[in-house]
Amino acid sequence: MKSYLFPTYQRKSFEIVEGTGSWAKDNLGNTYLDFTSGIGVTNLGYQHPLIESALIEQAQKIWHTTNLYENHLQEAVAQRLANGQDFLSYFCSSGAEANEAAIKLARKYTGKSEIISFENSFHGRTYGAMSATPQANIQAGFSPLVPDFVYLPFNEITSLERQINQNTAAVIVELIQGEGGIVPADIEWVQQVTQLCHDNDVLLIIDEVQTGIGRTGTLFAYEQYQIEPDIFTSAKALGNGFPVGAMVGKEKLKSAFGVGSHGTTFGGNPLAMAVANEVLTIMQTTDLLSEVQEKSNYFFERLTTINPKYIKEIRGKGLMVGIELKESLAVVDVINELTDVGLLTLNAGTNTLRLLPPLTLTKAEIDIGIDKLKAVLENPTF
Ligand SMILES: Cc1ncc(COP(=O)(O)O)c(C=O)c1O
Repeated sequence: MKSYLFPTYQRKSFEIVEGTGSWAKDNLGNTYLDFTSGIGVTNLGYQHPLIESALIEQAQKIWHTTNLYENHLQEAVAQRLANGQDFLSYFCSSGAEANEAAIKLARKYTGKSEIISFENSFHGRTYGAMSATPQANIQAGFSPLVPDFVYLPFNEITSLERQINQNTAAVIVELIQGEGGIVPADIEWVQQVTQLCHDNDVLLIIDEVQTGIGRTGTLFAYEQYQIEPDIFTSAKALGNGFPVGAMVGKEKLKSAFGVGSHGTTFGGNPLAMAVANEVLTIMQTTDLLSEVQEKSNYFFERLTTINPKYIKEIRGKGLMVGIELKESLAVVDVINELTDVGLLTLNAGTNTLRLLPPLTLTKAEIDIGIDKLKAVLENPTF
């Protein structure tokens, strides 16, 4: 059948048409345990009753107003994102846009142009975010990219010490590289990067698009690194499936993002804000985050019971899990076979199986997932 879509995605041949909690149903009647959460988006599961009511209630009041009027919901979400610290928020609709805003703010505030990012990282597909994403397959054919982006090795401090200079505006980093293969940053390295930025008046941008909103066991991953970013970005799970992004920066940066300096029609839309406010309220007022840490321990413990015949390394934090496979087993084949036995999973980086289950999953569901992983990873049929 002819498709009227640009073929930018490699799609499976079925459609997910329904979801409840950790479970998804396709148009052919198959049920799956979903360890993708729509690539780290539906962190609170499908059809969460409080999120659903927040959206429906707001939909019955007003869907959209422009940013030319007061918006109490934006204020509420920004206050939750600040979490008692001197952070201000700018709202948009995606992770790439949040990083784009961060890059623009960093250049404008510092009056410098160089942005440093790290090999294997992923920050999005818009020109600025893509220019910070040093992956050949992502940048190919789109040159010229935005100038003054410099790429350095991840988890290695000497090159950064050498590179930081009078024209460096910002360093942008993922604390666990998500698309890059679930590769965690070393805590000492992150602290050294933070210190170097501080000593050289360079802004530190933490990209929390995939790691944020409870994914690693704290609201944002940076909380576990004993650092304070100048800017952090959020999207994906902030709206649990409703498109929303946020660029959150220190109050000292306020003067560079004055009236007319940046903006977008849908940023902070009432529907998005009603949902984000409910997501953050759940994260900040329930035991969910401590439960994530507990479930994480259980998950990683159970993963070690899988026969490691085809496993090179298991990495991650919280419920952000990467299983790097040996070359003898191709991750795409594993994903297909897991789909056949009813478990949805993702790939990332080099031959790495990526698991991003909803944070609300139960231990019993972890057990079901582990049984399916065992079935395929111990006895692949291909
Ligand atoms: C770390 C990180 N940054 C940015 C993005 C881009 O977000 P979006 O796809 O919403 O533009 C992603 C998406 O996967 C991501 O994982």
